[in-house]
Amino acid sequence: MENIDWGSLGFGYYKTDYNVRCYYRNGKWGELEVCSSEEITMHMAATVLHYGQAAFEGMKAFRGVDGRIRMFRPYENAKRMISSAQGVMMAEPPEELFVEACKKAVKLNERFVPPYGSGASLYLRPILIGTGAQVGVHPAKEYLFMVFACPVGPYFKEGFKPVKFQIAKDYDRAAPFGTGKYKVGGNYAASLVSGERAVKEGYSNCIYLNAATHEFIDEAGAANFFGIKNNTYCTPQSSSILPSITNLSLCQIAEDLGMKVERRQIPVEELAEFEEVAACGTAAVVSPINEIVDRETGKKYTWGAEPGPVSTKLYNTLKGIQDGTIEDKHNWNVFVD
Ligand code: PLP
Ligand code: COI
Repeated sequence: MENIDWGSLGFGYYKTDYNVRCYYRNGKWGELEVCSSEEITMHMAATVLHYGQAAFEGMKAFRGVDGRIRMFRPYENAKRMISSAQGVMMAEPPEELFVEACKKAVKLNERFVPPYGSGASLYLRPILIGTGAQVGVHPAKEYLFMVFACPVGPYFKEGFKPVKFQIAKDYDRAAPFGTGKYKVGGNYAASLVSGERAVKEGYSNCIYLNAATHEFIDEAGAANFFGIKNNTYCTPQSSSILPSITNLSLCQIAEDLGMKVERRQIPVEELAEFEEVAACGTAAVVSPINEIVDRETGKKYTWGAEPGPVSTKLYNTLKGIQDGTIEDKHNWNVFVD
């Protein structure tokens, strides 16, 4: 295993040994190729460069208590990448190709899979881009699908400690019938100005509201949102949020723990009624929130300085399943060895 101070890893790029690539040309996908270069060469008129034909995924591999390496629900990421590809008219990498590429990227970089108990994991970043040249606004005829891997620590420097979010109504991330439900690059470009401003003003990121009326909660930066009240897990239903695989898993875990689960519109004012609120995602895992401020009105919602009991239980259960210390009764893990 690589000699890294795993406990002090943040969430960022880290050079590993190999990445895996597959090209779509003449109407079909080629063979998986192993590559050690960090660079991509492409045509200057590639559609990714000007028309934003770009989608990505984010998933993690963990070294379990038994030493075996598990990827968490990669078939769900594969399905979501297919949906994103359809959303911006790109060639779809078949599910099996997607999972095979991810497995290969983990195996080839096995020395970078952090040890059990370190709090770190191997983050996989599958990417799909239009590489074919177009000058008129049309989809490319050629695509590159690739997967690279980086060992990572917590997304927010706080780790499993509450973070603060800001509601900013002067920027929207995605339109009601736009691309918000796809994991495409443009959504992230659209979130940079408001996100960086929130960070500069002392927050982890923005809570985005539904763009049409700004009445309901959509997402928490690059993560979904949930609130807990009366033994109920509540999470937004919206056409413009990314269907989070972590959130899907937490809904199931909450149900398994005897909680009610509600997917529905969540009015901003309901924040005052929640006993706990949190952001959830692959990178964010479960990040409890202890403050949400409306930037426009100054109205503030606050929660305890320590993670609440339900968020803690959900976090520990999810982590336990990923680590192999809690039974994986829904068969979410895919072993790499
Ligand atoms: N929402 C957005 C905008 C994201 O970028 C992510 C990260 O992938 C999520 C939610 C969480 O999704 P998942 O749990 O599948 O990582
Ligand atoms: C993830 O949680 O995997 C994400 O993609 C969030 C962010 C780093 C873009």
